[in-house]
Amino acid sequence: MARLLLLNGPNLNLLGTREPGLYGADTLDAIVSRCTVLAGELGHELVASQSNAEHELVEAVQKAKPQGIDFMILNPGAFTHTSISLRDAILGVGLPFIEVHLSNVHARAAFRRHSYFSDIAVGWIVGLGPLGYELALRAAAVRLAGTAPR
Ligand code: DQA
Repeated sequence: MARLLLLNGPNLNLLGTREPGLYGADTLDAIVSRCTVLAGELGHELVASQSNAEHELVEAVQKAKPQGIDFMILNPGAFTHTSISLRDAILGVGLPFIEVHLSNVHARAAFRRHSYFSDIAVGWIVGLGPLGYELALRAAAVRLAGTAPR
């Protein structure tokens, strides 16, 4: 059994009412509930956290290893495109992660096409809405079982 951290960045607490045409109608609570059930079905434990503050996300990553986290599912929100400190924190703790974006960041404004995380992620899932989190969880479970290509 592994422990996974589902970590969401700024404004993702607004899911459900935030630009539903782009991000879907599900609340973050609903997404976390579904992912928690799915993680259990896959034989793992899910811990979820969201913050609008960069330093809190950095601290969540720094604390992840001592808390027994083996893998992260990360949607850094707008920090995707700006946060060298969050990137450095992940590199610093050496935790594998999958990057998730609800919207297709490549089909939007040019500034959303660059991610400070994609080159250090195991993989990323974009544009599939809330389902992306569940797909990332399934991919993480395969990865943790040691059956996915590196
Ligand atoms: C997002 C994409 C980001 O560009 C944006 O700033 C977000 C949400 C997504 O999930 O599609 O806050 O990460």
